[in-house]
Parts: sequence; structure tokens; C-alpha cells
Amino acid sequence: MDPRLEANRSNWNERVGIHTRSRFYDVDGWLRNAPGPDPRESEALGNLDGKTLVHLQCHFGMDTLRWARAGAVVTGLDFSPAAVDEAVNLSRRAGLAEHSTFVCANVYDAPRALSGKRFDVVYVSLGALCWLPNIDAWGAVVSELLKPGGRLYLHDVHPFSSCLDDDGERIVYGYFEEFDNPYVDDTGDTYTDGEKLSTTRIFVWNHSIGEIVAALIEHGLVVDSLTEHDWTVFQQFPWLVESSTGQFVAPDDHPRIPLSFTLLARSPS
Ligand SMILES: C[S@@+](CC[C@H](N)C(=O)[O-])C[C@H]1O[C@@H](n2cnc3c(N)ncnc32)[C@H](O)[C@@H]1O
Repeated sequence: MDPRLEANRSNWNERVGIHTRSRFYDVDGWLRNAPGPDPRESEALGNLDGKTLVHLQCHFGMDTLRWARAGAVVTGLDFSPAAVDEAVNLSRRAGLAEHSTFVCANVYDAPRALSGKRFDVVYVSLGALCWLPNIDAWGAVVSELLKPGGRLYLHDVHPFSSCLDDDGERIVYGYFEEFDNPYVDDTGDTYTDGEKLSTTRIFVWNHSIGEIVAALIEHGLVVDSLTEHDWTVFQQFPWLVESSTGQFVAPDDHPRIPLSFTLLARSPS
């Protein structure tokens, strides 16, 4: 594997324990409340009862297992063995082990790791694409994983907001960046509460909205909708305020900028 991805994987392995203990993910609350998919996502994808769904970069499976609760037959894939172990553990604790499978693999190896299986839905949730150096190769993977007529649901951090530093004050990374020019971070921070990481170095890449759309079209997918949002679901910058619906938005006196986006695409039938 690319040594930069090896470094990222070590970092993610260490994050898993911090995240599962965090108030941010609140695993015990999640088990108690047993949430299904986010209503926005259910509305976009409709009833997935009995449908197959693969969640790329599933972390420790919370977003994946929400879909199992809605009747989907889910597969989560992540390159962190610690994440996959925790996902399996969580599926057992949630009573969803029979409806879920978790596979440890690099996204770029997903078609092989999943034995060529094709799915009704490829699902990708927040914080995924920045970890991938090559967005065109990701488009090829998504295309290869979808059945004819199958759909991609992608909700991720908006690449414009990824140009800004952690304070959301200064542009520190390009919107148009080259494959061999990742943003290198050594802070040892993660986005949840909890201790600092000792495996600090990470490499991330920004992919413009145009590049993401092109990567999908290039590999035969049809983009059905693309929506840029002025909200996100975590405290990405200190100046964001939480709305009554739990979304994080710019305060009234701040210019509105795109913070996340949702893209729906499908494989032609
Ligand atoms: C921010 S987390 C995703 C969080 C997710 N939306 C959730 O359900 O909480 C990003 C995940 O991508 C995984 N990842 C990063 N690079 C990857 C790669 N090349 N292949 C597979 N997984 C990868 C990490 O291990 C991590 O679990």
C-alpha cells in the first residue's frame, strides 16, 4: 500500500478506541436509542428493505448499521482492522450481526475484497473522500460495485471548507490540488472529544466538486442530483453555531459558505 495510506491507517487504528469511548459518538446512547437512517437519507434512497448496501470507509459501523435497522443487508468496508473489529462487536451488541458483514480492505481493493459482488446501493458518509489520493480511481470502484440501476449516495465535507485551517480563518490548502501534493497534518487531533493521538502524521487530499462529478461520469455513472449545503453535522470550525435541528451553521453575521454536499448518482440499467 502507498506509505501515505499506511500512515493514515495507523492513525485511524488509534482513533477507533478514542472514538468508541467519546461523547461525540456516544455508543451506549446509540445502542439504547437504536436510530435508523437519517430521515434525509431515507427520503433520498427510499425503502431499502431487503436491498444490498455497501458502506465504503464505514469506520466502526454506526452509519452502516442504521441501514441494517431499516432492513437493508449491509456490508461495511474499512482499511482499519481496529475499526472493523469494533464494527463487528457493535453489530453483535446491537443484535444486527445477522444482517451485516464487515470487511477490512483498502477502498481501492474493494471490488476484489468483496469478490466481485455488486450492490443496490453504494453509501459514503461524512469524512471519506479526503483520505483518498486518487478520486478518478474511486469513481471506477463505485461503478464496479453497483448493479445496473444501482445508486450511489454520497454526503461529505465540502472541498471548499477543506481549504481552510482548523479555525476556519485562513486558506491553507488548495481547492485544486495535485495527487502528489497532499495536505500533511501532524497535530495528533481528532474530531471527537478524548485524548490526543500519538500516531500523529496524516495525509489528506482535497478533490474539487468538479473532479468528484467527473470521476463518476467518466466511469459511466449518471449524476441525478448534487446539492451544496451551508450546514454540516459537527463543529468543523469554532465559530459555527448549532441550530435547533442539530446542524452546524455559520452565525447570522458570517458569510454563508458551503460546508457539506450530497450527491446522488446511478449506474445505467
Ligand atoms: C471520518 S471516518 C468516516 C466516518 C463515518 N462517516 C462514520 O460512520 O462515522 C473515515 C474512515 O475512512 C477510513 N479510511 C481512510 N482511508 C481509507 C482507505 N484508503 N480505504 C478504506 N478505508 C479508509 C478510516 O479508517 C476511517 O474509518
